[in-house]
Amino acid sequence: VTRPSAAYWDGVSEEIQTRGHYLDAFLGQLKAQAYLDLIERWVDVPDTPVLKTDLFEESNAVDALLWHIQAGGLRLGTDLSPRIAARAAQHAPDASCVFLAADARHLPFTTESLGFVLSPSTLDHFESLSDLHVSLCEINRTLRPGGTLLITLANRSNIGDPLRRLVIRLGLVPYYIGASYTISQLRDELQAAGLLVCRETAIVHNPRLMATAVAMATRTLRWKAFTRLARRTMLAMQRFEGTRYRYATGSFVAALAVKPDRQADPEEPRHAL
Ligand SMILES: C[S@@+](CC[C@H](N)C(=O)[O-])C[C@H]1O[C@@H](n2cnc3c(N)ncnc32)[C@H](O)[C@@H]1O
Repeated sequence: VTRPSAAYWDGVSEEIQTRGHYLDAFLGQLKAQAYLDLIERWVDVPDTPVLKTDLFEESNAVDALLWHIQAGGLRLGTDLSPRIAARAAQHAPDASCVFLAADARHLPFTTESLGFVLSPSTLDHFESLSDLHVSLCEINRTLRPGGTLLITLANRSNIGDPLRRLVIRLGLVPYYIGASYTISQLRDELQAAGLLVCRETAIVHNPRLMATAVAMATRTLRWKAFTRLARRTMLAMQRFEGTRYRYATGSFVAALAVKPDRQADPEEPRHAL
């Protein structure tokens, strides 16, 4: 049984480095842009410290996000894997970010110290479903009152999700993938952790398997007209986010949640006057 431990993720990173390929550059940029656009649309990034909960993208550099976030305060990045955190630090363009090996279930930050947390499909790689709740409570603990969490998880409502799960079961995915979630499951999880959900959507509207196949075809064919057409089509597909089909086509469900100024007392009767 594969245990997605720190050592396991260290090994995944080593294998990617040996293979010399992680993600098609165009797909990486498209994915990174989807996140940066969402941050720009939804988040007023504060001057207080911001955190990204994994450093996979930064360790491979193609779809790095942390150093592109326009933040006035400290930019912190954590990852369960020390190797991934170290590789991310090597790719950093300057000294404006701090990289740490840490588990999202036990963050090494004091209570109410962070202004914004970005968690891009980090918390859908657990063996135990209850670990999502543990991590969300931990993020809630470290957020300042009024601080925000932008989280994405693999989208269970995506039309390609059954095929994706089959591919995972057949062992054809290069790393451990846990559960996928619907937007209402994500909303329930955020609320159960004491956060208030303010925005919801789905992003990255080019199914991973299809996009990877097209990227491989463009690399093999090296036919400029085909590459241009494939890229234009994938860019155009992002418009699904503005339609009612967004949860059928998006790779990730996304939500923005805020830590309320005063946490509800769990002992307090729900309908007390
Ligand atoms: C396969 S990547 C996917 C996430 C990445 N943001 C993306 O969307 O491609 C999973 C990353 O999460 C990290 N990770 C897994 N469990 C973690 C945990 N409990 N705390 C922090 N990072 C974790 C892994 O080391 C790895 O870098």
